[in-house]
Amino acid sequence: MNILLTGGAGYIGSHTAVALSEAGHEVVLLDNFYNSNPSVLDRLQKILGKALPCIEADIRDTDVVEKVLREYKIDAVIHFAGLKAVGESVEKPIEYYANNVQGTISLLEAMKAMNVKTLVFSSSATVYGDPQYLPIDENHPTGATSAYGRSKLHIEEILRDVANSDAEWKIICLRYFNPVGAHESGLIGEDPNGLPNNLMPYIAQVASGKLPHLNIYGNDYPTPDGTGVRDYIHVVDLAEGHLAALSHLERNTEFDIFNLGMGKGYSVLEVVSAFEDACQVTIKYNITKRRIGDIASCYGRVDKAERLLGWKALKTINEMCITAWQHQVRTKSELVNVKKFI
Ligand code: NAD
Ligand code: UD1
Repeated sequence: MNILLTGGAGYIGSHTAVALSEAGHEVVLLDNFYNSNPSVLDRLQKILGKALPCIEADIRDTDVVEKVLREYKIDAVIHFAGLKAVGESVEKPIEYYANNVQGTISLLEAMKAMNVKTLVFSSSATVYGDPQYLPIDENHPTGATSAYGRSKLHIEEILRDVANSDAEWKIICLRYFNPVGAHESGLIGEDPNGLPNNLMPYIAQVASGKLPHLNIYGNDYPTPDGTGVRDYIHVVDLAEGHLAALSHLERNTEFDIFNLGMGKGYSVLEVVSAFEDACQVTIKYNITKRRIGDIASCYGRVDKAERLLGWKALKTINEMCITAWQHQVRTKSELVNVKKFI
């Protein structure tokens, strides 16, 4: 298949590009590099041994997206492009709705015009809000607590309406839990700008000496050790989930939603300890107050994806930590090399 990845230069998109390309699909990336860097294209070329076409464009530019769909004879789209920082979304809701919701509408307009009606959308477990029960299945009530989360919910609803309007549309929403880790080469991974918001990249930067210590946001939650529990999933497993979703859409036409996670929770202290064991480093940490908006525990029920998509996350927390670390080390050494030439 010829597959367009919007936001394909980003963290999850680049890993999915590798999985799809290795499975024999023709992959085209479209990204405005708002939260990524064109250097990822060289890294993808090193991994795959060939260059992937990448168009620098905004998904809101419907004409350009139409042109790309036409010129590359695209059969299906995986839609990663979007803004994703929860805190920032509370301060800048208009930008979040414009980019995420309006961006998706623009993409759908282009797809409809070009008669490309197969779509996999990056949603998030954040749409479940504060869990009413655990593990969270796909029927759990939704109730996002930020503009980011609500943008995902709005998009899911729009996609459901679109799928209902015309039987030719085949759409799957994937609700990711907490993607972490990196490709085994260390060449691609999560590269947050500035101070990382999320746990794993923060730990990796403490391990490398870039940051002095980790702040653990609260140890008084109703969890076994008092720290927050999350469902971490290796990004390479997650990438494979997209392949499974596309294969499913070749056989099924129904709009559907799937959780993608490990189906198992780890506390912050368990992740710290796993990272120390896997990478033979010491992670200094302080316990600080709870982060506003955080929840105690969140992990998914993932048997629906296993049953219907034939997909299951297999990589362990150990592999998540090792690859996150390898990517951190690789990124740091490249920065050192760059400095030498200045
Ligand atoms: P990312 O920021 O690394 O990748 C998103 C990419 O989209 C970036 O390369 C960015 O430059 C691009 N982009 C943003 N707006 C665009 C626009 N208007 N036009 C073209 N390109 C645009 O993020 P990621 O972690 O790879 O996440 C991918 C998707 O998965 C996002 O939609 C995100 O909301 C969703 N998601 C991510 C997580 C996570 O923890 N990483 C969890 C759940 C859901
Ligand atoms: C965050 C997002 C969520 C998104 C998810 C995807 C918020 C409020 N939520 O959630 O919408 O779907 O990422 O990856 O941003 N922690 C620390 N110290 C740190 C960082 C995190 O103790 O420096 C703790 C948190 O309190 C939490 C756990 O580590 O208990 C995981 O945090 P994080 O990686 O930010 O993920 P989420 O909170 O699940």
